[in-house]
Amino acid sequence: MEMTNEFKRHRRLRQTPSIRSMVRETHLHPEDFIFPLFVVEGAKTNNDVASMPGVYQVAFDNLKEELDEIVGLGLTSVIVFGVPKEKDPYGKEAYNEQGIVQKSIRFIKDYAPQLTVIADTCLCQYTDHGHCGVVREGVIENDASLELLAKTAVTQAGAGADIIAPSNMMDGFVSHIREELDESGYPHVPIMSYAVKYASAFYGPFRDAAHSTPQFGDRKTYQMDPANRMEAKREVESDLAEGADFLIVKPALSYLDIMRETREVSNVPIVAYNVSGEYSMIKAAAEQGWVDEKAIVSEKLLSMKRAGADMIVTYHAKDMAKWLKE
Ligand code: PBG
Repeated sequence: MEMTNEFKRHRRLRQTPSIRSMVRETHLHPEDFIFPLFVVEGAKTNNDVASMPGVYQVAFDNLKEELDEIVGLGLTSVIVFGVPKEKDPYGKEAYNEQGIVQKSIRFIKDYAPQLTVIADTCLCQYTDHGHCGVVREGVIENDASLELLAKTAVTQAGAGADIIAPSNMMDGFVSHIREELDESGYPHVPIMSYAVKYASAFYGPFRDAAHSTPQFGDRKTYQMDPANRMEAKREVESDLAEGADFLIVKPALSYLDIMRETREVSNVPIVAYNVSGEYSMIKAAAEQGWVDEKAIVSEKLLSMKRAGADMIVTYHAKDMAKWLKE
């Protein structure tokens, strides 16, 4: 082939580490990561989560050490999940002012007030049937569930949560919670809505970590169909109209197209939820020596930011914060 001048020399900008770093468009920082913290009630020691190597349920008495580690690594926010001792049909422990989540939030805000504490607001860890709402004759009731969800949010805000993150996918949860928070004296507390949440097999290991597997059926009448794209736009539209301050897209890895579109139709901060299954797959492969864990995790988290996420809920947060310091 005869060389002509008619092609572009893209490699000019890839020649040296210094030039590559100069033209790099996306960066990761420890403050991008939200660390998921599972706090277990009544345990003396932390419990390992078999399907998520490196993740454990923290015993309340060990919270101090846990927070020292989190803060020491430069992480600035956590999302708190409770694993209660008792479950019942209505998930009472979710809205108990002395519940494990409320206690943990109070403790964290007292011990490490600089950390942003996000409360996951759902019922599935607290109900004996494992569904995210009230069940009547096998049906997950929307409006009755909203009442309990709003009650949960108010107790979490009362305990000091900086942000409320409702994840149960009942219609109207943002407006309902907004109204209750406003009326209860928490108009300043933002809502980080799990706006786009698919019924995903990637949540498997989390249900192990949070003990929240549905005891019958599945979540397909409230979580979204992975086949759908327009449905995500409808969810985003209504959550914004209802007053969501942040939008979560979940899962992240198989839904980067949805992340990009969500970014394009909204001006609020976008959160990627890099879910449990996405974590466990990499951990398993890394343990076999089949992938370079640090390289693959960095690449994966970058892809989420490149797709439009401003921040990422991720179980890799501690590891990534360590690697960023190296
Ligand atoms: C609760 C909730 C779930 C996750 C976060 N909040 C589980 C579910 O909907 O089954 C999943 C998180 C993960 O897989 O990492 N509704």
